[in-house]
Amino acid sequence: MSGQRVCVSDFEDEARKVLPKSVFDYYRSGADQQHTLTDNVAAFNRWHLLPRVLRDVSTVDMSVSVLGHRLSMPVCVAATAMQRMAHPEGETATARACRAVGTGMMLSSWATSTIEEVMSAMTSSAGGAVLWLQLYIYKDRELTLSLVRRAEEAGYKAIFVTVDTPYLGRRLDDMRNRFKLPSHLSMSNFTSASLAFSEGNYGDDSGLAVYVAKAIDPTLCWDDITWLKKHTHLPVIVKGILNGEDAVQAVNRGVSGILVSNHGARQLDGVPATLDVLEEVVKSVDGRCEVYMDGGVRRGTDVLKALALGAKAVFIGRPVLWGLSCQGEQGVTKVLELVKEELRLAMALSGCRSVSELSLQWLFRRRRESLRRHWTFLCHQLRSVHSLLRCSQQMFF
Ligand code: FNR
Ligand code: LAC
Repeated sequence: MSGQRVCVSDFEDEARKVLPKSVFDYYRSGADQQHTLTDNVAAFNRWHLLPRVLRDVSTVDMSVSVLGHRLSMPVCVAATAMQRMAHPEGETATARACRAVGTGMMLSSWATSTIEEVMSAMTSSAGGAVLWLQLYIYKDRELTLSLVRRAEEAGYKAIFVTVDTPYLGRRLDDMRNRFKLPSHLSMSNFTSASLAFSEGNYGDDSGLAVYVAKAIDPTLCWDDITWLKKHTHLPVIVKGILNGEDAVQAVNRGVSGILVSNHGARQLDGVPATLDVLEEVVKSVDGRCEVYMDGGVRRGTDVLKALALGAKAVFIGRPVLWGLSCQGEQGVTKVLELVKEELRLAMALSGCRSVSELSLQWLFRRRRESLRRHWTFLCHQLRSVHSLLRCSQQMFF
């Protein structure tokens, strides 16, 4: 790599060079034609920032409390499966980077490091951070609960249950590549080859799609959230909500948080960008639990926009994988520090001194503004017509 990596896409460009094609494709892909994949990123550009000036921005407080834990910034690491394909230290390197930066990491059920290994990596390095477990609910409920038990015993602080994956979305490159794990790796939280995604042959399809169809429970419904809550003392957060009505259902089931997510556009292509549905979810939840978002967050200004639209914090998936692929722990640390510094600068240049100050007032949306102006104009016209009619009524009757 010539020159410094100064933005997330520099890390992506480098990762494309160093990773085997089928691994890069798996990490990068969205579902089907990838319209939502593009839109997750584009949605941020539909909002503009509206700075305030002369507000002494010599110090900017980016710290935030997520589920009662103080983090150094409102940017956490989303669950991404099978990180040892990116680097031999995989999830343990990511955990150490989170610890160094002081943020939260959501570990995938499908990690290539065990729940316990990742916790000990995080606690053995310096800094403050928190670990949460992302949970897939298996057809085998005892197996599912054994993951929850292990997370509780190891000191994880919450369970993010993924609710958007009754089946795996169609990722065309994975189908073409017949994606499966390299033979020296497995999903480490499981012992049998069939559960550890380390069987030799998955036929002509994406191996992961075959695995999901075999193991994951497609009958999941709202009662299963109640079931999960009954079996753990940890806070439960639902990951994968895209509309207000589902958000209200989740709140009614007593969840501690909602992660507005379309799974990084990897499940159903054609769903809206997560940023576009965030406001509706926040409004429907009305402060009854914490709301987070992920999908397409690539820059500090993206974080600022999501927070101004009501997210308590955001999660990033792919950028972490790019950092890990380039330089292991150091690469993830650099990506997290980069986004953090971008956020600090974006807040300072916007005249915002603390994340708690962020609100819609910091944003400007061209289409919305022009609709508002048209509406005001129409009301004005209607008022004129109304007074004209009243005058003529007085004149003639
Ligand atoms: C994911 N995601 C995911 N989600 C989940 O609940 N469990 C998982 O194991 C995985 N694995 C996974 C692998 C890869 C390669 C990607 C890219 C994504 C989804 C992830 O948690 C998150 O929702 C998105 O990655 C957020 O979008 P961005 O930041 O990647 O655009
Ligand atoms: C994915 C699964 C692991 O998105 O959630 O690939």
